[in-house]
Amino acid sequence: MERCLTLVLLYSIIIFITADRVYVRLVGGHSRCAGRVEVLHRGQWGTVCDDFWDMADAAVVCRELDCGEPVDALGDAHFGPGSGPIWMSYVACTGSESTLKNCGSSGWGKSNCDHINDTGVICSEVRLVGGSRCSGRLEILDDQSWVSVCDAAFDQQDAEVVCRELDCGAPVQVLGEDAFGKGDAQMWTQEIQCRGNESQIHFCSKSISYENNCSHEHNVELVCADPMNVRLVGGHSRCAGRVEVLHRGQWGTVCDDFWDLADAAVVCRELDCGEPVDALGDAHFGPGSGPIWMDVVSCTGSESTLKNCGSAGWNVHTCTHNYDAGVICSGE
Ligand SMILES: *[C@@H]1O[C@H](CO)[C@@H](O)[C@H](O)[C@H]1NC(C)=O
Ligand SMILES: *[C@@H]1O[C@H](CO)[C@@H](O)[C@H](O)[C@H]1NC(C)=O
Ligand SMILES: *[C@@H]1O[C@H](CO)[C@@H](O)[C@H](O)[C@H]1NC(C)=O
Repeated sequence: MERCLTLVLLYSIIIFITADRVYVRLVGGHSRCAGRVEVLHRGQWGTVCDDFWDMADAAVVCRELDCGEPVDALGDAHFGPGSGPIWMSYVACTGSESTLKNCGSSGWGKSNCDHINDTGVICSEVRLVGGSRCSGRLEILDDQSWVSVCDAAFDQQDAEVVCRELDCGAPVQVLGEDAFGKGDAQMWTQEIQCRGNESQIHFCSKSISYENNCSHEHNVELVCADPMNVRLVGGHSRCAGRVEVLHRGQWGTVCDDFWDLADAAVVCRELDCGEPVDALGDAHFGPGSGPIWMDVVSCTGSESTLKNCGSAGWNVHTCTHNYDAGVICSGE
């Protein structure tokens, strides 16, 4: 009896501690890793306004929820309008914060937004571990935990969807070896059957895997073609040109408002092109086409990718392609 009480007490403490640590949730999406962003403040859940809502902010939310990589940062109540307070606006995460609550904003509850301006986030429910962002041992989010995937139940179509979800181009190689280490994630007891054209693994059908008894020697390991989310187009080498950013399979440009050498430095580093020599505007390398993904870019200089720099909001701008940004780096 005493032991039982001790256990109950212990569990209550654990539940109390874990419950207390949840400050953010995603509501109205297809899983706990996609939806309208809601933050807990003073015991009340409220929403976030989409002004300056960008991929750096989405990255913090995805990390805080132990979801995968940020796939999209959305505004205009993409997942439906919330209710209650609008706790944060003008959110400006640097990307390294452990919780959205620690990101800069205009102040708690200080907002002239409406719930039609509520933000949303989509995080990936797949990740590649032990390699780079675009190569490694495949893990899939099975509700709360990350699990390994058996290679016997994984094919080219499935690989295409994983690489697409992570914005990593086409799959190059599906390995069933041990190149990226074994890991300690549990083996998934299901398998996915993608057609190959789905935008995310979530939209593939799944079934219980009866056929394959898998052990950790048979993890899926995957290499996707294109680890770069940025490229320079129309210059004399791959290290000079119009800046283009890959987002959900589509290349778009960057507007030149506040475009400077700190921003250029992130691009040059990402492309392994040395130091920034010039940050250009006014479509110096010719106007691009397609979406203008970023405007009012404000990198601190330490970001690993341009996509994680602050901006006016992902896909938010008052710009035309006549103002596309360009970069010249010192490398060849
Ligand atoms: C909220 O969204 C509406 C409609 O898109 C827009 O007109 C308004 O300016 C937005 N408000 C803020 C504060 O961003
Ligand atoms: C994928 O292809 C199938 C037919 O092959 C089609 O019915 C389906 O609508 C496609 N899905 C998407 C998301 O394009
Ligand atoms: C999987 O394991 C079960 C029970 O251990 C066994 O009966 C079955 O034959 C195995 N299937 C394969 C394909 O090895």
